[in-house]
Amino acid sequence: MTTRSKNNSLISQRAIQISPSGIRKFFDIIASMDGVISLGVGEPDFVTPWHIREAAIYSMEKGYTMYTSNSGTPELREALSRQLSDAYGLQYDPFGELLITAGVSEALDLAMRAILDTGDEVIIPDPCYVSYRACVILAGGTPVMVPTTEQDGFEISAEDIESRITPRTKAILIGYPANPTGAVLPKEKLSKIAAVARRHNLLVISDEIYSRLVYGVNHTCFASLPGMKENTILLGGFSKAYAMTGWRVGYAAANREIIAAMTKIHQYTMLCASIMGQAAALEALKSGEKHVREMVADYDRRRKVMVKGLNSIGLPCFEPKGAFYAFPSIKSTGMNSEEFTEKLLIEEKVAAVPGSAFGQCGEGYIRCCYATSLPDIEEALSRMKRFVSKYSK
Ligand SMILES: Cc1ncc(COP(=O)(O)O)c(C=O)c1O
Repeated sequence: MTTRSKNNSLISQRAIQISPSGIRKFFDIIASMDGVISLGVGEPDFVTPWHIREAAIYSMEKGYTMYTSNSGTPELREALSRQLSDAYGLQYDPFGELLITAGVSEALDLAMRAILDTGDEVIIPDPCYVSYRACVILAGGTPVMVPTTEQDGFEISAEDIESRITPRTKAILIGYPANPTGAVLPKEKLSKIAAVARRHNLLVISDEIYSRLVYGVNHTCFASLPGMKENTILLGGFSKAYAMTGWRVGYAAANREIIAAMTKIHQYTMLCASIMGQAAALEALKSGEKHVREMVADYDRRRKVMVKGLNSIGLPCFEPKGAFYAFPSIKSTGMNSEEFTEKLLIEEKVAAVPGSAFGQCGEGYIRCCYATSLPDIEEALSRMKRFVSKYSK
């Protein structure tokens, strides 16, 4: 049998460099156990509102089962353009500045592949959503991580970004409200980052998938900051706000040159987002507002119970102002985050995600998703209390 040299490996160096998602690993374990309360998956426990499902069913009944334009249906792009204008005063041409994708996941991948050459650097906060580093690496880029801390509210600072800029820096990739911390960056801090981006002529990829899930604070769209529309790739989606994870619809909004480059890659790899998903997304934009408000009010109630509960059982928790995650410190137990979550799952059947899955600065924390029912949150907290009292030093 012939052997392969390192450079002739069966698997590419890019694929070797990325590790399997630390989130998914847990789900395979949970799937094989009974009675587990999951604070794991970052997914709403609500079913997509009925009128949205109905619109998709109706469109299928009418025979809409084919490909759409690569860019997405004109109706959805027009509705999205109106929504971005109403919400942020941003004017995106639906025919050239918007691309409908299979979730923010695809939009993120396309954005990286469209802008990066081998070795280009992208500045990213640590901890961050699991896909950020991986997408940069898969596109041939180099992620440059910027540590953030609980003391600073897990907010990345413009100064820390600026100090990491090199001649190879191409972009800054941020996502606020943040997964896994729930941090929301105030407008003043975003404006300082915008100033750094302008000074150094950098692109900003802003993942705003949680834009609608904020509690007591306002969301600032990065592209709406002065001078930033042209230099921002705004990513958004339907998965979280409308409880539509399985429909796989998201979008990118950016200048024509970038959207054209992303569309080329999308044409050859995805072709288009599913037509049923797009019909559902259109209905979500037309009449989903009431449901979004109801779900956000519900998440807020759960957030308060979760954060108060975690603090009271000895897992200090910074107050998350967005998304649907709490990120408590588990340092008092002396365990690392992987050990903590594994033992918690086996001994108490509560699933959470180790903070280390989100980067080095996530070590010492766990991510608890509170998009689950209040009774389950309360039961999970009482199991965690028993667990923590057993191990606290
Ligand atoms: C920050 C962030 N961005 C993107 C995604 C992926 O979203 P989508 O379902 O639109 O692909 C997630 C999913 O958890 C997320 O948390």
